[in-house]
Amino acid sequence: MHIGTTLSQFIIEETRLYPGASGDFAGLLNDLTISCKFIGAQVYRGALVGALGSAGTDNVQGEVQKKLDIISNEAILKSMDWTGHLAGMASEEMDDPYAIPQNVPRGKYLLLFDPLDGSSNTDVGISVGTIFSVLKAPVAGRDAELADFLQPGVEQVCAGYALYGSSNMLVYSTGYGVNGFTLDPSIGEYILTHSQMRIPEDTSEYAINMSNRRHWQKPVQRYIDELNQGTDGPRQRNFNMRWVGSMVADVHRILCRGGIFLYPFDQRDPKKPGKLRLLYEANPMSYLVEQAGGAASTGTTRILDIAPQGLHARVPVILGAKNEVERVVAYHRDSF
Ligand code: AHG
Ligand code: MN
Ligand code: MN
Repeated sequence: MHIGTTLSQFIIEETRLYPGASGDFAGLLNDLTISCKFIGAQVYRGALVGALGSAGTDNVQGEVQKKLDIISNEAILKSMDWTGHLAGMASEEMDDPYAIPQNVPRGKYLLLFDPLDGSSNTDVGISVGTIFSVLKAPVAGRDAELADFLQPGVEQVCAGYALYGSSNMLVYSTGYGVNGFTLDPSIGEYILTHSQMRIPEDTSEYAINMSNRRHWQKPVQRYIDELNQGTDGPRQRNFNMRWVGSMVADVHRILCRGGIFLYPFDQRDPKKPGKLRLLYEANPMSYLVEQAGGAASTGTTRILDIAPQGLHARVPVILGAKNEVERVVAYHRDSF
């Protein structure tokens, strides 16, 4: 029996596409997969290891932290900070960038991550995941400064996520398409199972939290209302809705079978132009979606072109099937 292509093999072979690559990046990605296996194991053992429930603390976003948010954050920091590949790390769960320990050489990459996306779903048995983004440090070999992390998404050298769903999956891209790997727990390896994932340009499935409808702007209300009118409306066909409430799972579904995902601008809180965070949610997911043939926009701007205003900046997110995203963008253009 053939084991299949392991993630380590795939990473090393893909790195050979980059002439002069030192192997640093391959090492970085390999080390990161260890924390994804560890976090997945904690999520799946859940209540057996006392990992469910709140930690009783708030993060910088003012959100209550789950125990698994903290476990996942620590797991990534500790499996990455000794490697010498990184000049710094930034996470949803930390106010400021994390400094690499003094005794470790500074590397040439920056790692940004959402350690556990959808963590409010952990206590109810719904899929969650880890989202990550890799940037080049503007100056290699020294401690990263806050400004070093504030690069537009087009500068990402890698983006991906681990999904702790019905299987533990690792999905990533370095700019040569999107590939998915499934963890085989019997050998502890991620194996290539989803080669060159593609998002069809058209779809009949959308994902949005409908309960926020009254807070949206007119173009998004128009778009969703038209979908909901089905065969009786201007789209002349029925659309199906899915909303997991974990972006990582909603985006994974779109990479597997197509669709459009929206967490649009809403008028609840003028300080928050969207719910999702640019650097470690919107950017990595937009990179993957574009690599798979889809599109990602705020409604008015391509997400990957945005100059970040801060480590925890939020943006509206509309991503997935190209023709549908372009339609939403056109509705915004018409209305302003
Ligand atoms: P996180 O758990 O990392 O804070 O992210 C949760 C995000 C995202 O995963 C999801 O799409 C969205 O919040 C769901 O928000 P609603 O509860 O407003 O639907
Ligand atoms: Mn998240
Ligand atoms: Mn999170």
